Amino acid sequence: MQRVPEAELMEELEQARAYAEADFNEANTLFVDSFVQSFGKGLKGRGLDLGCGPADIVCSLAKINPEMKFDAVDGSEVMLDWARRNISRQALADRIYVLNCYLPCHDLPVDRYSVITSNSLLHHMREPRDFWQMIVDYSEPGTKVVVMDLLRPADTDVASFLVGQYTADAPDILRSDFYNSLLAAYRPDEIDAQLAEAGLSILQVQDVSDRHWLVSGQIG
Ligand SMILES: C[S@@+](CC[C@H](N)C(=O)[O-])C[C@H]1O[C@@H](n2cnc3c(N)ncnc32)[C@H](O)[C@@H]1O
Repeated sequence: MQRVPEAELMEELEQARAYAEADFNEANTLFVDSFVQSFGKGLKGRGLDLGCGPADIVCSLAKINPEMKFDAVDGSEVMLDWARRNISRQALADRIYVLNCYLPCHDLPVDRYSVITSNSLLHHMREPRDFWQMIVDYSEPGTKVVVMDLLRPADTDVASFLVGQYTADAPDILRSDFYNSLLAAYRPDEIDAQLAEAGLSILQVQDVSDRHWLVSGQIG
């Protein structure tokens, strides 16, 4: 099935609410467990989370790395409202700084990050090159990278099946966003080609669920 791009920012109030209130525990745990499996816990330095949304993942990463600080970046102010609430509820506002930036951007507060993470952003971005270039620009030798995103299914029937399977009781807006995101997602062979083009072949892509791929590795 050919990829069908979807809107970039999640700026509608109801859309952001449905996303922030949804239960993404399974996917978020997969992300954080994969991070820990690759790099352990208790790291130091400053992390960058691209397309942080409601900040669930960056909060988990901050908790298992109590000496780290993070910049959590998103271009949707309504989504960042959820992120700020979530971060203060978990008493992490002194270590997670929320930034409203439309990506790609080149004026982040730090030139190089020791950790760069992103979940479910790439398929939204207009130009995938811009996403990988952000990682090139803001990393240094040793930067730990974990990127996860949806995997485009073989056809629209499989996409509909996955929507039924994983968002059966969810609000309509979340179900249609999930469907559109599946159609906009990339396949691991496309990610491999994007990594090669960006000079990031040191990072490895693998399928990690029936609907996700994950890239991880350390910048050389
Ligand atoms: C599907 S959500 C993922 C949120 C979060 N990473 C998570 O795993 O829960 C994608 C987020 O990326 C943001 N986004 C999409 N395109 C963007 C862009 N070009 N610049 C900044 N943020 C963007 C959206 O506003 C949205 O909050």
